[in-house]
Amino acid sequence: MYFEPEKITSKSGRELKIAPIGPDHAEQFLDFMRQVSEDTHFMSRYGDEVGLTDKDITIEKKRQKELFEDERQGMISIFDGERIIGNIAVRNAGKGRKTTHRCSVGLAVRKEYHGEGLGTILMEYAIKFAKSAGYQYMELGVLSDNIKAQGLYQKMGFVEWGRLPEAFILDDGTRIDEITMYKKL
Ligand SMILES: CC(C)(COP(=O)(O)OP(=O)(O)OC[C@H]1O[C@@H](n2cnc3c(N)ncnc32)[C@H](O)[C@@H]1OP(=O)(O)O)[C@@H](O)C(=O)NCCC(=O)NCCS
Repeated sequence: MYFEPEKITSKSGRELKIAPIGPDHAEQFLDFMRQVSEDTHFMSRYGDEVGLTDKDITIEKKRQKELFEDERQGMISIFDGERIIGNIAVRNAGKGRKTTHRCSVGLAVRKEYHGEGLGTILMEYAIKFAKSAGYQYMELGVLSDNIKAQGLYQKMGFVEWGRLPEAFILDDGTRIDEITMYKKL
C-alpha cells in the first residue's frame, strides 16, 4: 500500500499526519502495539507478548516490507510528530483466489488520544483503500465487552454476523465472547 502522507486534524484541533507505514517503522510499530496491548484487554495479545528484541524487530521489518509492497494490503498509521498514535491494518481475509474479495481489519489508537475521532478517520481511510483495491467485503472481530469499538463499527456500517463463545480467557479467568462483523463495501 502506498499513498502520499496527508495532514488531518483531531476533534480537539491537534494537527496530525496520516500515512502508510513500512519496514522503517517496524520498531516503532511494535512499541505502539505493546502500549495499546498493555492499556486494554481488547487486543489479541497481552503487552508482554509483543516482543521488542532485535529478532522481533527483524521479523516485523520483513512483515512490514511485504505489506508495504503489496498493492492490496497494508498498514495506515496516524502520527503525532514522528510518533505512531493510531493504526489500522488491512489484510487479505484468506489466502487463495476464492477469497480475494474479502479483507480483514484491525484497529487501535493510543489511550491518551481516544475520543478524538481518530479511530473513525483510520476506518474511513481503510474502507477507501479496500474499495480501491477491489475488495467487496471487510471483516473484523471485536470482544463482546468492547462497547465503544462496536459502536464505532456500527456507525461505519458493519453488521454483526456471529459470536464465538469464550474466544478469550484472560489471565484472571474471565471468559469473553468475540463478536464477528462484516461490511459490504
Ligand atoms: C476502539 C478505538 C479504536 C476507537 O478509537 P477512537 O479514536 O477513540 O474513536 P473515535 O473517537 O473515532 O470514535 C468513537 C466512536 O465510538 C463510538 N462510541 C464511543 N463511545 C461509545 C459508547 N459508550 N457506546 C457506543 N459507542 C460508543 C461512537 O460511534 C463514536 O463515534 P462518534 O464520536 O462519532 O459518536 C479505541 O478506543 C481503541 O484503540 N481502543 C483500544 C483498542 C481496541 O479496542 N481496538 C479495537 C479492537 S476490535
